[in-house]
Amino acid sequence: MDGRTAGSSLVRAFRGERTRERAVWFMRQAGRSLPEYRSLRAGTAMLDACLDPEMASEITLQPVRRHGVDAAVFFSDIVVPLKLAGIDVEIVPGTGPVVAEPLRSRAQIEALPTLDPAALTPISEAVARCVAVLGSTPLVGFAGAPFTVASYLVEGGPSKEHLITKAMMLGDPETWTLLTDWVASVTGAFLRAQAIAGASALQLFDSWAGHLSEQQYRAGAQGPSAQVLDLVSDLPQPKVHFGVGTSELLIAMREAGADVIGVDHRLPLDEASRRLGGSTPLQGNIDPAALFTDPDTRARHVRQVLDAGASAPGHVVNLGHGVPPSTDPEVLTRLVELVHSLPDPAA
Ligand code: CP3
Repeated sequence: MDGRTAGSSLVRAFRGERTRERAVWFMRQAGRSLPEYRSLRAGTAMLDACLDPEMASEITLQPVRRHGVDAAVFFSDIVVPLKLAGIDVEIVPGTGPVVAEPLRSRAQIEALPTLDPAALTPISEAVARCVAVLGSTPLVGFAGAPFTVASYLVEGGPSKEHLITKAMMLGDPETWTLLTDWVASVTGAFLRAQAIAGASALQLFDSWAGHLSEQQYRAGAQGPSAQVLDLVSDLPQPKVHFGVGTSELLIAMREAGADVIGVDHRLPLDEASRRLGGSTPLQGNIDPAALFTDPDTRARHVRQVLDAGASAPGHVVNLGHGVPPSTDPEVLTRLVELVHSLPDPAA
């Protein structure tokens, strides 16, 4: 908000400018692919690490130092605001978020606690520590979209089909709305705290929205995502909205209010841009599988992504989803170099 990252390639691309050197960062760039992460985290539970400002900021900075990416992404998790509100949630290694008492009844949802704004202090502190070191390199803050976060609360853990969640959404829209109102308010407060503390861009992750038809998305997920984005709409940071398997939802997602759409690897960026009318900056969408191919195959794929991205008003290079934990970090460093070595002809 003080303008120190305004000239960065990331912020300029998110604002719809082409930059000669494209901005590149990776979802889940901080994490198990890095040996320095594994050694720092050893013996500390995931959510305890997220709530330790010194550790969270150090983990956030690790991939920036190592790979020379053009943005940091705040080390935290979409379930952190739930934990801060008093929900009994844990992140089980190799599994994901597990909620002790899944929310299945209206009475449980009516009894949800309120989030004390003071509980967000470790988040603000960690963000402030990151931006003090990052200087002109932007920090991306994030939160989970209500549909995705609600799925963990209702299912009680990771789910393949999200059947109980979708059943609530479709069959009991009143209870669903009570739940998504609550999630939107805590998740929005989490996102806003990161923005106020100095994040330069904000990303809303709706990882599981691709399990919804467009009609279902519009009926039960779009409004709650718009509520989250409304809670930060007075702030100047560009907002990115990303989902997995959401090729059919791109327009409906943009209507929720973000400036930039994150595209997964299932849809070429030129087609995504066409669907969006050519007016929306895009982020994406190198197939994470390309991290595991030989270098020539990888370089060909990256060039295709860059060429396809040239049709959008701005393009921030990223993967189509997060960095797999088994990725060789050296491959990511080389990938950043490759993207930086290919000047944008549209700039
Ligand atoms: O580097 C970054 O991108 C920033 C940090 C980040 C994490 N989680 C750290 C994390 C971000 C942006 C998230 C978001 C998140 N968390 C999403 C949305 C993005 C997506 O990937 O679709 C979702 C669905 C979650 C829920 C969640 N948390 C899952 C599915 C898992 C993985 C479980 C596992 O062990 O495989 C987590 C844990 C988690 N969040 C880890 C990290 C680095 C792994 C923790 C560990 O080291 O064991």
